[in-house]
Amino acid sequence: MADELLKIVDQRTNSSYELPLSKGAIRAADLKKIKTGPEDSGVVSYDPAFLNTAACQSSITFIDGDKGILRYRGYPIEQLAEKCTFLEVAYLILHGELPTETQLENWVKDIKSHTMLHEKTKSFLEGFNHDAHPMGMFISTLAALSTLYPEARKVRDPEVRKLQIRRLVGKVPTIAAYTYRHSLGFPYVYPDNDLSYTENFMNMLWRMVEPKYQANPVLSRALDILFILHADHEQNCSANVMRAVGSSEADPYVATAAAAAALSGPLHGGANEEVLKMLDEIGSKDRVPAYIERVKAGQFKLMGFGHRIYKNYDPRARIIKWAADQVFVATGRNPKLDIALELEKVALEDEYFIKRKLYPNVDFYSGIIYQALGFKPDLFTVLFAIPRTVGWLAQWQDMLDDPEQKIARPRQIYTGYAARDFVPIEKRAARPVGAAR
Ligand code: CMC
Repeated sequence: MADELLKIVDQRTNSSYELPLSKGAIRAADLKKIKTGPEDSGVVSYDPAFLNTAACQSSITFIDGDKGILRYRGYPIEQLAEKCTFLEVAYLILHGELPTETQLENWVKDIKSHTMLHEKTKSFLEGFNHDAHPMGMFISTLAALSTLYPEARKVRDPEVRKLQIRRLVGKVPTIAAYTYRHSLGFPYVYPDNDLSYTENFMNMLWRMVEPKYQANPVLSRALDILFILHADHEQNCSANVMRAVGSSEADPYVATAAAAAALSGPLHGGANEEVLKMLDEIGSKDRVPAYIERVKAGQFKLMGFGHRIYKNYDPRARIIKWAADQVFVATGRNPKLDIALELEKVALEDEYFIKRKLYPNVDFYSGIIYQALGFKPDLFTVLFAIPRTVGWLAQWQDMLDDPEQKIARPRQIYTGYAARDFVPIEKRAARPVGAAR
């Protein structure tokens, strides 16, 4: 039901229309009614990059970008990061409510029963070059899981869906760890289900010949917090891909692989790796002002800065800064932090960044903490993808359960040639490439 009506006057015809307005949104399909005559197919909304288009209704994650607020299922991110484990938050995101003690116990048990990878997956990973980027291996392996679980195609069956969600949440750390071991040429380490989700991940990454891996509790807690902060972020680029691919009823493994592919780009989750490269390039605090000048001159972007939705400090970046201090007590201070702090200070005082409301985002400090935890930069985006798998799956379920959703299929405004007759090759004149745009 509409809350209000929006009146639109079409000056071409002097007709007026009343479009239902609900929760501040009109339905773009209602614009079709606005036409100049029976031949006209009606007005469409044009919104490249979805700057102002809501593609769904969702109750998972709330962001107020102006105030710097982030909540999962209504709970402030700060409280969840302080009080929960990652799997508890994963349950919340996927089920809508925080688990009771028994629910959590069963959920953790369920996830742990899916941490192993089929041996064939190992041989599949072995086919990659030793220097293959871990994100490429991660994406491909996710897609390959689709071949092992063909029943996953029954996406309308809630029980089948439930099983694939548990499998994916259970297996992503194992895939991630195997990509890392592969790049080092070390044998893969099997999951140890005595350990927590993050401790087991650390075990699969770093256990060598010791019979039992002992995780440093400060570091495993920091990783748990980082996982919580990255678990979902409403309709970002990769979530949108998950929904779009899932809307064709493709199985969740290939849809998650597609979402991970979207995440890998440097403007999205790939930014954390780029931040580290940038800090390396800057090299020392005194070179920060010159670097900022080059950003302002448009030579490149300041990686880890800016956000489509946050026009204020990203609340996740604030928590990561706090977590970094805890980690540095255990690992020693990462000297790159000083360059990052200086970069933030100079940028936040500069008119260019103030005017455009550009603040540090989640990726600005996460790389520094990942590096202090012992990760190589090319694994950073995989570290983002592990927890974000939970968000993607929640968005996917949300989309499948929403009776209003159909296969995603945007419109276009055609700008090409009108119909023209075929020209035989001997009569064609060379034309500049892209002349039709
Ligand atoms: N450095 C310098 N200038 C910037 C930056 C930046 N990082 N980000 C935006 N701008 C400028 C941009 O050039 C534009 O200036 P003008 O108005 O003069 O043309 C203005 O700010 C508005 O930017 P926009 O490109 O319209 O913003 P957007 O919403 O399309 O892009 C963004 C958002 C995150 C892709 C962009 O800010 C960016 O490329 N940041 C660097 C990459 C990054 O850190 N990505 C991680 C995002 S958060 C985590 C995640 O999504 O995974």
